[in-house]
Amino acid sequence: NKRKYILAGNWKMNKTNLEAAEFISKLTAKIGKEKKFEVVIAPTFLALEKAVDLTASTNINVAAQNMHFEDKGAFTGEVSADMLKSLGVNYVILGHSERRNIFGETDEIINKKIKKALEKDLTPIFCIGEKLEEREKDLTFNVIEKQVKEGLYGIEKEDVKKIVIAYEPVWAIGTGKVATPEQAEEVHAYIRKLLSEMFDEDVAESVTILYGGSVKPENYFGLFTKPNIDGGLVGGASLKESFIDLADIMR
Ligand code: G3H
Repeated sequence: NKRKYILAGNWKMNKTNLEAAEFISKLTAKIGKEKKFEVVIAPTFLALEKAVDLTASTNINVAAQNMHFEDKGAFTGEVSADMLKSLGVNYVILGHSERRNIFGETDEIINKKIKKALEKDLTPIFCIGEKLEEREKDLTFNVIEKQVKEGLYGIEKEDVKKIVIAYEPVWAIGTGKVATPEQAEEVHAYIRKLLSEMFDEDVAESVTILYGGSVKPENYFGLFTKPNIDGGLVGGASLKESFIDLADIMR
């Protein structure tokens, strides 16, 4: 297929600037020349500039973990798309379940952020996923449908093709309880079906869809070899040597 394959690491609220710099130096010594897939790392805002510098001669791209949907103004504590772009950042994670569930981000807010990122030429990594109680009530597809429809509301076909979607079942995040390759593939295929209904087949086939939730070198293989899974968004295992191991075995 024509989709971009990505191994992304979301560092969340981990690593000081010094720790970030040390770790990125380790990464660039071992990975970052791959042609088969792209590597993306998402440090905290504070370490973004350093991360862009240290990865300049590699294929490692740098993502922010969030941004605001307004251009500028009285939004204490927020960061804009232009500020990220000016550092050389290319990607931004939007709608992560921790943003949704801890910081109260709604589908509507996430939709505004995705539109702003696209306008500013930042690639959104748009996260969706059901909670455990939703899966247990058989509501997984309903939740995914709502998140995709509202998150992508009003976005043109050609722009949707530029978005990366990350399916992250909330029950699998940081729990060590990874989705089985079959569980993940089922939802990824469903997302693609939704995209083809909402837009067209070309859009559905173009969008990279990552899986996230307790991915590590020991369990990546079954997941990343499924036809609708185009790589991973890795949390805990992206903070350690295991991220290098993941990149190694994906080569
Ligand atoms: O964005 C990454 C995900 O939330 C996955 O985190 O690999 O620690 O489960 P995890």
